[in-house]
Amino acid sequence: MSDRLHLNLFTMNAVEHVSVGSWRLPGDQSHRYSDLEYWTDVARTAERGGFDAVFFADVRGIYDVYGDDRDTAVEKAVQTPSNDPAYLVPAMAEVTDDLGFAITKSTSYNHPYQLAREFSTLDHLTDGRVAFNVVTSYLESAAANLGFEERMDHDERYDRADEFMDVAYALWEHSWDDDAVRRDRENATYADPERVHAVDHEGEHFDVPGPHGAEPSPQRTPVLYQAGSSDRGREFAAKHAEAVFVSQPSADAVRDYVDDLRERATAHGRDPEDLAFFPGIVPIVGETAAIAEAKHDAYRDAIDTEGVLALLSGFVDVDLSALDADQKLEHIETEAIQGVVNAFTANDDRDWTVREVAEFAGLGTTSPVVVGTPEQVADEFEQWFDEVGVDGFNVKEVARPGSLRDFVDLVVPELRERDLLADSPAGETLRERTFGRRGLPGGHPGRE
Ligand SMILES: Cc1cc2nc3c(=O)[nH]c(=O)nc-3n(C[C@H](O)[C@H](O)[C@H](O)COP(=O)(O)O)c2cc1C
Repeated sequence: MSDRLHLNLFTMNAVEHVSVGSWRLPGDQSHRYSDLEYWTDVARTAERGGFDAVFFADVRGIYDVYGDDRDTAVEKAVQTPSNDPAYLVPAMAEVTDDLGFAITKSTSYNHPYQLAREFSTLDHLTDGRVAFNVVTSYLESAAANLGFEERMDHDERYDRADEFMDVAYALWEHSWDDDAVRRDRENATYADPERVHAVDHEGEHFDVPGPHGAEPSPQRTPVLYQAGSSDRGREFAAKHAEAVFVSQPSADAVRDYVDDLRERATAHGRDPEDLAFFPGIVPIVGETAAIAEAKHDAYRDAIDTEGVLALLSGFVDVDLSALDADQKLEHIETEAIQGVVNAFTANDDRDWTVREVAEFAGLGTTSPVVVGTPEQVADEFEQWFDEVGVDGFNVKEVARPGSLRDFVDLVVPELRERDLLADSPAGETLRERTFGRRGLPGGHPGRE
């Protein structure tokens, strides 16, 4: 466990991310997602607030499960339209010194040889400030657009992801020796061929002879985030993740998840303490409790219930328009995001109706909302850190960029005052700053 809190800003290169309807709030700038200046401002503010990284979600396909068509998704901007986050990184890195960038990429719709080169490029350009949020994707509409007859089965997507990571590790970690690059002008030798190796991967999904096309970047393997929460997803996270993005609606549920993942990591031969946990959280803060409550009310009023249901229908692959609003959600096995189903059906503390889920999920989907003064919000963060044992948070926005500014101006000074957040980051790379280590930890499959 970390000795201080780590923060990521959880966002998306899109109009709407996880608080559908918020783009209509007065002064909201979400519609400027295609304006580079919007993002360089976000980067400066996040760095000022001591965030480790801006964490970009990303999705392939369109949310067309709700009502069996895409109309609601388009009308309400439900994660569509969206732009590719990776292209923002060099510009955001240029206006900051320490801020990291976690980029979501799918192992189902990319090729590891290509993806390894993309991350190496970004790691070079940012001096070692990138992370890879490994996802397996969930929308059927993505499969159709990317040339597949149907979406791969849930667990098969993780099998492919396992092999994908093996190839990527071979390219990042084992293809170029540390001393392969000579830059020896006199002997006309840029790199020593003896020290650049083929990877000769032959598998079920990929055949990649190698070598890696890029020379070693500062971190080699980017910092690895993962968010799987089904049984198969947890196995994957326990094996590969350095940090796990936890999406559970209560402290108890997070605690259970953390315990389970640590146990699984041990079974994979890893030190369970090498896994860091970042729950999502939605802070709504004001100078006084009344101001914070007023903001919360305004945000709640802006929730677009139909849009939220369209988003959730895609997450769980169930058309929620077909259910009665007062119907209790039943536990199912889904081919999409099992973790979201589990968040509302597999915890003992309560039952949820469709209406209640839509209301809860309207601000940040599955994450808890914390409303109050800077002291109250900091109390809540401190409690999660001390008592639940998390390492940090993926801070979710509602108003953009208002929620980030509020957090940085009001809560961050309070967290620093309590010595929960470092005044300045220590270490050269993102991995050093978040985990205090240069490379992948011992026992990690990328080290083998
Ligand atoms: C907190 C959280 C964040 C996720 N973010 C993304 C994302 O940005 N893009 C994406 O394609 N999938 C995302 N996923 C979905 C996962 O990649 C995966 O497809 C899904 O969780 C299925 O795995 P599971 O059933 O093990 O949860 C996310 C899932 C969770 C729980």
